[in-house]
Amino acid sequence: MPRLNENYLNVQDSYLFAEIARRVKVYEEEHPDKAGNIIRLGIGDVTRPLTKSAVEALHEAVDEQTSSETFRGYGPEQGYEFVRRAVSDYYKRNNVSVDENDIFISDGAKSDTGNITELFAKDNVILVPDPVYPVYVDTNTMDGKQIIYMNGTEENDFLPMPDDSVKADIIYLCSPNNPTGACYNKEQLKAWVDYALANEAVILFDAAYEAFVSEPELPRSIYAVEGAKRCAIEFGSLSKTAGFTGTRFSYTVVPKELVFTSSNGGQMSLHDMWNRRQSTKFNGTPYIIQRAAEKVFSEEGMKECMENISYYMENARVIAETLRKKGISFTGGVNSPYIWFKCPDDMESWELFDYLLENIQVVGTPGAGFGVNGKNYFRLTSFGTHEKTREAMERFDGLF
Ligand code: MLT
Repeated sequence: MPRLNENYLNVQDSYLFAEIARRVKVYEEEHPDKAGNIIRLGIGDVTRPLTKSAVEALHEAVDEQTSSETFRGYGPEQGYEFVRRAVSDYYKRNNVSVDENDIFISDGAKSDTGNITELFAKDNVILVPDPVYPVYVDTNTMDGKQIIYMNGTEENDFLPMPDDSVKADIIYLCSPNNPTGACYNKEQLKAWVDYALANEAVILFDAAYEAFVSEPELPRSIYAVEGAKRCAIEFGSLSKTAGFTGTRFSYTVVPKELVFTSSNGGQMSLHDMWNRRQSTKFNGTPYIIQRAAEKVFSEEGMKECMENISYYMENARVIAETLRKKGISFTGGVNSPYIWFKCPDDMESWELFDYLLENIQVVGTPGAGFGVNGKNYFRLTSFGTHEKTREAMERFDGLF
């Protein structure tokens, strides 16, 4: 008989968004007359189609695959040079220098933030903000690692800062934050980099929402802070930036400077380890997708993405306006597609989830799914259409 990984006993039966989808399906089955009325502002899934340059590049790349002269099979595991350079140039336009050889192309920040746990031994102390994107917690729990939490609350604007009395080895940061939409400024990120360097810790920085930063003084990469290459890995994604939730493209920056001493006194490089891990377990993002991504990272491609982002941010404005009118406190919606608000009438978040589904058929994400500090909070995404978002907010307005 196999002995199973019993750490799985310590995670919820289903992943947060799978659980939401399950509950909505049950509601649809029980209320077929209301099913067509449901507005989904729960999971952060985009509604705008792919941009023109991405689609053109996809078509061209598909055509290449139809001829033996231009056909491509397995690509380099780290990703084609053309797209790694395009990512590096994108960083440069945002005033951050990242060596294209430190960039690894992948199929999702979710996969990479989950898989990166393999590089770290079981006895590390993992520091995770609460509330937090559930993947960080679930993957470390599945791996049997010890997690400690730092509180994100209204008092610290949902931006926990380092505490010198806590000794962590691995720190997860997500900015702009999922779920709260809060965004660290450069000084705050510098405090984290200083802490990591002083404690020989590694920061796993999730920058999946960097393209939504609208205030120019806010950093869009941890590498905007000096010294970060000696302590941080960064994850980026086109899921929300370019509508690639179904197309799949992400990148992870593992600087060569990330070298630590092993138990035998030798040196281990996280870059080399990630390269070894990826080349062993991953055969790369499809060629056609890498070609599309290359175009997305061009100046023209990014301009098109920004049009879609402005579209979504108009939804964020509509949601924020409704909450403000109702006197409900919230964060996010300015440098992030997410709006995180206090549940009205002292409700708990799953209670509000059911209430909204039952009464106005609007689906959001209960804050409790992101940690104990989310118990009385609720997340709405701005990734819906204008029409549905306005309709959802009109219904909400009539409730409270
Ligand atoms: C979310 O809604 O938090 C995200 O869409 C989940 C993800 O990116 O995996």
